[in-house]
Amino acid sequence: MALYAIGDLHLSLSVNKPMDIFGPSWVNHTRRLEEAFSQLEEGDLTVLCGDTSWGIDFGESLADFQFIDRLPGKKLILKGNHDYWWNTAAKMKRFFAENGITTIDILHNNCHFYGEFALCGTRGWFYEEEQSGHNEKVLNREVMRLEASLRAAEERPILAFLHYPPLYTGYRCPEIIQKLEEYRVRQCFYGHLHGPTHKRAIEGTLGDVEYSLVSADYLQFVPISSFFSLGWNHAPRHRDSRFSRRSFYRNIFTFSPF
Ligand SMILES: [Fe+2]
Repeated sequence: MALYAIGDLHLSLSVNKPMDIFGPSWVNHTRRLEEAFSQLEEGDLTVLCGDTSWGIDFGESLADFQFIDRLPGKKLILKGNHDYWWNTAAKMKRFFAENGITTIDILHNNCHFYGEFALCGTRGWFYEEEQSGHNEKVLNREVMRLEASLRAAEERPILAFLHYPPLYTGYRCPEIIQKLEEYRVRQCFYGHLHGPTHKRAIEGTLGDVEYSLVSADYLQFVPISSFFSLGWNHAPRHRDSRFSRRSFYRNIFTFSPF
């Protein structure tokens, strides 16, 4: 049994949203995901860190969730900024049940236990949100969701999963970072950054929290199980360790197309 993470699958099996328009790194990305997941086992758990399906409602996202359901192991999903299909937990669970989807659960205002660890998370907050005018209400709501999830950890060591990076070259979200540190989160995994914006990712330990970017194109569509600093013996079985820590505070300013 191993724990994996990957974000931003950006599946579009029933909508016309080809991902290879975003560059050669996305060519055949669905097939590559399928191949990578084929190395996992039924007892494994993968946290999907948002931007899972391009569908705008349950109808458009069904094929994507059926695809995810067929992949080995359990999956835990959280909300990304492009998950327009997202709904209340009750409606999402009913949607999964009505369609025979049995391997997907939801990380939202709650936490899940994995061995001795608590898996916590929420969508988070990012500077892109600031560009449309600072919305303190939305920020506070995300901070409250994160805290509700962290509080549910019941003193267990915490692994946090966000969609938005809580820190980025030239940007910090102090409210989110403060909560991660207050609850002594061991590791924080985040997605959202694609293509050229990978260069702006901040990874490694800052304060007491170790940050890792897990967007799918950054991982070359192979979910990671890189919980080395926790002493877990879950080295990826199908790829070498590429988790040498990247340098902090890169200064290349480019923007992601999605
Ligand atoms: Fe994304």
